[in-house]
Amino acid sequence: MARFLVTAGPTREALDPVRYLSNRSSGKMGYAICDALITAGHEVVLVSGPTALESPANADVLQVESAQEMHEACARQWQYCDALFAVAAVSDYRPSAAQSQKIKRVNDALSIELVANLDIVKDLAATKGERLVVGFALESENGEQHARQKLESKNLDFICLNAPQAQGADVSELTVFSRDTKWQVGPCTKATLATELVEVILENSNV
Ligand code: C5P
Repeated sequence: MARFLVTAGPTREALDPVRYLSNRSSGKMGYAICDALITAGHEVVLVSGPTALESPANADVLQVESAQEMHEACARQWQYCDALFAVAAVSDYRPSAAQSQKIKRVNDALSIELVANLDIVKDLAATKGERLVVGFALESENGEQHARQKLESKNLDFICLNAPQAQGADVSELTVFSRDTKWQVGPCTKATLATELVEVILENSNV
């Protein structure tokens, strides 16, 4: 039995007390992966951005909002885990400062400065040692090329490529890449997809 850290869902990056930047991630894939890992007999700690989903039964769940909160929670948990599935759609940028009061309407245009968020999976993978790290890539063009680049640059063992149509969908498919092999999983429901993905990865890793 191994202990898996899973990130899931979107992040919210505050602009002011009532507004945020976010994305269309539903969290369904990450939550389905938690269920599949638990069914396969493993322990799961889920660090989740805001979703409408029920927490997976028998997982330790830490709810967060921003990428910085997700990073802090993951950094604390990583030392106790054997593997990481980074499924969250983490916002690449956040407003350089969240305003303390609601931003007022101005005349025509409003500019908001954004600064880069830390890459959580890359940061944790830098200290992975023999541990397993799996990432996801959602690409709208040149999927295989971008996924393979991310596999290398983020120091991942596997990367799972999906298309923008996967966001919020119940039926989906993935192409999974390791350094030297490629697998096609689905199309099928996200529950079946997660079960088959977990099988492929566990059969082809040391966990
Ligand atoms: O570079 P891109 O955002 O496409 O990479 C996607 C992968 O990296 C996913 O596994 C996602 O969870 C992870 N990621 C992250 N922290 C970020 C951005 C992406 O962990 N700030």
